[in-house]
Amino acid sequence: MHEVTSENERIVDLVLDYSRRRILSSDTPLDKPETEAELQRLAGRTISEKGLGADRALSIFEHVLAPACITTDHPQYLSFIPLAPTKAATAFDLVVSASALYGGSWLEGAGAVHAENEVLTWLASEFGLPAGAGGVFVQGGTLGNLSALVAAREAARAHRLENGTEPPARWKVVCSVEAHSSIASAGRIMDVDVVPVPSGPSGALEGKAVRAALEEHGASVFAVVATGGSTNFGIVDDIASIATLKADYDFWLHIDGAYGLAAMLSPLGRPYFAGVEAADSVIVDPHKWLFAPFDACALIYRDPELGRRAHTQHAEYLDTLTESTEWSPSDYAAHLTRRARGLPFWFSLATYGAAAYRDAISASITLAHDIAREIERRDGFTLVRQPQLSVVVFERDGWEKADYDRWSSRLLDEQRAFVVPSSHAGRTNTRFAIVNPRTTFEHLTAILDTMA
Ligand SMILES: Cc1ncc(COP(=O)(O)O)c(C=O)c1O
Repeated sequence: MHEVTSENERIVDLVLDYSRRRILSSDTPLDKPETEAELQRLAGRTISEKGLGADRALSIFEHVLAPACITTDHPQYLSFIPLAPTKAATAFDLVVSASALYGGSWLEGAGAVHAENEVLTWLASEFGLPAGAGGVFVQGGTLGNLSALVAAREAARAHRLENGTEPPARWKVVCSVEAHSSIASAGRIMDVDVVPVPSGPSGALEGKAVRAALEEHGASVFAVVATGGSTNFGIVDDIASIATLKADYDFWLHIDGAYGLAAMLSPLGRPYFAGVEAADSVIVDPHKWLFAPFDACALIYRDPELGRRAHTQHAEYLDTLTESTEWSPSDYAAHLTRRARGLPFWFSLATYGAAAYRDAISASITLAHDIAREIERRDGFTLVRQPQLSVVVFERDGWEKADYDRWSSRLLDEQRAFVVPSSHAGRTNTRFAIVNPRTTFEHLTAILDTMA
């Protein structure tokens, strides 16, 4: 299995040939899930003492398993937050595996860590954070938010200890009612209370409401989370008005920009993000709107030392690493072993240049606004909210949940699009989440036509 033999050469060629075809294909169908029973029937038993051989195993993947996975980078995949990796980023993901890189420590992965850190420093400066800001690429926004909030609570604990003040009976995080579910998940894992604050009429959390929450919950609040592009609507909280409160209250400001913070790279998105420069930590997921493959979240601390204090693991066998002053990515989040998962993004950014990213993000924002106008123009449709970034939420007048469900299933069955129902304030709607530069106005109007 480990030696270079003619059989292993053939296996590598087989896999690279499949990968090359998939990466360069522009007509991979949307595909759809199969039932467990059907997959069992089609794939049969694949694990045995003798092994199937690469030809048979790859054939089962190509003809049975892959078609049962929805093509998340398809231009008509418009649900949740789609994936839209560049060709360079996807191809380089193969290099990351081929090179057996360890991305946890400087000692083992200095070259990879250097490149990842250059990207993190570049992102930090785009977000207006000071020189010295830095962090780590973690698996996803959920882990990024959790790791940031753990660092925030650790900093608050240390601060209280220094001041000789008692810690509160319960620590609290303040966020919008529209914050991503991963904030509530972090609260459960950390055993802290999450205080949901109503958003304003546009859907954005505003400083006024946060002030009221800080007054009510006092010094038990260790962090305020502002969302930089809500998942459901792509609305950015009023970060500037929340950041101003730091003058009067002692809290860690975390920006959950998993989906939307990428829009700061575009002149069309940037104006929504005033105040991000005051953040203590931010996250943005390259696997969302920065055109990288799954899975990568950039977690950036204003003062990385606070992240390190919260997360460094200590063990005798790790002393060589932890006693060093070199930058070890493992120290900055709740993980140890890590893939150098920032490298596909680094390679693509280095290859195409930042301007190509700015243009691609601007194109999605423009398309979202164009299709929102089209929805407003069409009889029988209601735009739920004016979009800010690239999520467009709308209702088909008179439709109930069952109508959306039937329509959505039909769209996928007919392999036209993947658009699932969503809801807001108890009313069912649907949404286009646009991050793929290959999605066109015509794709979207064709989907609207199916709702006539
Ligand atoms: C605003 C926001 N935060 C956090 C997350 C969670 O990110 P992940 O799915 O990478 O864990 C998402 C996912 O869509 C998101 O949109």
